[in-house]
Amino acid sequence: MKKHLMIAADHGGWELKEQIKAHFPEIDWTDLGPQNSTSPVDYPDFADLLCAKVEKSLSNDPQGILICGSGQGMAIRANKYPHIRAALAWSEDSSRLSREHNNANVLCLGGRLISPSTAIECVKTFLETPFAGGRHTARVEKIHKPL
Ligand code: RB5
Repeated sequence: MKKHLMIAADHGGWELKEQIKAHFPEIDWTDLGPQNSTSPVDYPDFADLLCAKVEKSLSNDPQGILICGSGQGMAIRANKYPHIRAALAWSEDSSRLSREHNNANVLCLGGRLISPSTAIECVKTFLETPFAGGRHTARVEKIHKPL
């Protein structure tokens, strides 16, 4: 399993962020915040903190996890970045397919919509599943084709 991973949330995802970090103590987490859930924050600000770092690395491996209330806002913002493929997962299958077929490098979760145990399954699967390549390679390349 990957040893280093970034994670960020908003107030709707803060609690799940803490639960995920606690469940995977073997991972060297870079927690980009927020550090508490006492006041509301804007999810695009925290997506930006993480995505700017992923963008610099240009890596295809799983790089980070973004959590807001639904996971949607984080995914929408993250996918503005040219080298990011952010996938919203809500089950083990959706997480696995995001790696096998889409080579997703950022996992988005909805802290208010899925249970902590489902979220943990999604994270584990995301980190353990390789990109399948083959027929999916050209499709993934097309995702990044300029409009
Ligand atoms: C915050 O209330 C909520 O809008 C946010 O966490 C997220 O669900 C947005 O997509």
